[in-house]
Amino acid sequence: MKVTVSDIKADVGSLAGHVKPHIRQIKAAERVLEEGVKSGTIYDYQVSRVGDDIHLVMLHGSGEEASEVHRLAWDAFRAATEEAKKLGLYAAGQDLLKDAFSGNVKGMGPGVAEMEFEERRAEPVVIFMADKTSPSAFNLPLVRIYADPFYTSGLVIDERMHSGFYIDVLDQKEGEVYRFNLPEELYDMLALVGDVVRFSIKRVVSKDESIGTAAVVSAERLSHIAGKYVGKDDPVAIARGQSGLPAVGELLQPFMFPHLVPGWMRGSHVGPLYPCSVNDSNPTFFDGPPRVVAIGMMVKDKSFVGEEENPAPGHHVPVDYFAGKEFDYARNLAMQIAVYMRSHGPIMFERLPEEEMEYTTLKSVLERVLKGKRR
Ligand code: F6R
Ligand code: MG
Ligand code: MG
Repeated sequence: MKVTVSDIKADVGSLAGHVKPHIRQIKAAERVLEEGVKSGTIYDYQVSRVGDDIHLVMLHGSGEEASEVHRLAWDAFRAATEEAKKLGLYAAGQDLLKDAFSGNVKGMGPGVAEMEFEERRAEPVVIFMADKTSPSAFNLPLVRIYADPFYTSGLVIDERMHSGFYIDVLDQKEGEVYRFNLPEELYDMLALVGDVVRFSIKRVVSKDESIGTAAVVSAERLSHIAGKYVGKDDPVAIARGQSGLPAVGELLQPFMFPHLVPGWMRGSHVGPLYPCSVNDSNPTFFDGPPRVVAIGMMVKDKSFVGEEENPAPGHHVPVDYFAGKEFDYARNLAMQIAVYMRSHGPIMFERLPEEEMEYTTLKSVLERVLKGKRR
């Protein structure tokens, strides 16, 4: 049976800064998705969050870019926005850039990662939700997972992974997508994805046609859609695991290294990616550091399955992978790096380079200063 997992996410207002959604926003989104289950638009769902972003994780049979599923997500975010307005939350409705839904939420503000696949006998799915950073934050871990045998030993040991993967890369500047055949074209691909301002990995596909898509990232950028800074394009990546794909442990290992990513305060800085649990994902140090949360569930027929005793749509308990003490190592290292980076204040390269600042409010400050102070 073919199923689609979609994560449509948005920041539609948050509590006391850009910190966390209010429970009433989450409940409002759940009520809309519950109706979506009743009407048959989706099979199942789970609402989650990282920092100030609400994630609508949905399971359905309508394929990628299905208008009725996107509309449902749009309605859920509208409902969460109404709650934000009533409660006077900060930046209510921030990521909803249009007034009326027009067929597809792409280009309307929310981030979208979705993949359709033929369900295998057992189907573990991991959702990586990141706050205060860009889609390109996933470039480094995805290269390690799908193209580095020093990380994914399955690339050497498992015959079904031995021939490698295809990786699609989006050029944020020109809008083009490039496909690379890994490992043969690894160096060519690295020439692009090493530039985390311009290029983002968008999709990973198994060379085994019976498996299909291995991972997807919400690569479209909000600021590029709006033409100005309207909040960071906090991304999500979805990855399937095991049986001819990287094991869940291989999906998680790269996050033990808190690599530097663009984003953080005002989307204008460079900081380490801090892995943590859902509950620990409130950005508290200089609106960060940028966070990544990994939650896992099984897909079984038309349901998600988590740790809950009796699975019911929307009431799952996903595995919260970074909650454990193992990842204290990465968190401690991340905080040392975060403090070190912050010691540079507004000086590059803790502050982002020019091209990335193009969409921020620094542009108008610069224009005024350059004009007014010229001698
Ligand atoms: C980053 C983010 C925050 C805000 C910052 C300033 O994605 O959302 O770091 O940029 O708190 O917010 P404003 O301009 O709304 O006061
Ligand atoms: Mg925000
Ligand atoms: Mg956010």
